[in-house]
Amino acid sequence: MTLHRVAGVDDVGEGCLLRVEVDGTALCLARLVGGGFAAINDTCTHEDESLSDGDLEGTQVQCPAHGSLFDLKTGEPSGFPAEISSSVYEVTVIGEDVLVDMP
Ligand code: FES
Repeated sequence: MTLHRVAGVDDVGEGCLLRVEVDGTALCLARLVGGGFAAINDTCTHEDESLSDGDLEGTQVQCPAHGSLFDLKTGEPSGFPAEISSSVYEVTVIGEDVLVDMP
């Protein structure tokens, strides 16, 4: 695995989502309320929608199209209509840089 810089700490506000890319893979970067970052594949597993256009609900991100929630720790959807888990990635903050661990 390799650390990839995807954003600066101040590029995404607390409670907000930001679409970033690593080697052509789109990720939804989340800055959690109360601290910390998380990252999940940006493309919803139900249809081709960008999760970063959705909303952050605690430690889940809600797809803007049909409302499925994805857990940012496990990638698992909460239920219908999405049934397939997404990929989640380890996020590290070093100084002012936000880095995602990806192959
Ligand atoms: S496209 Fe995401 S729940 Fe349907």
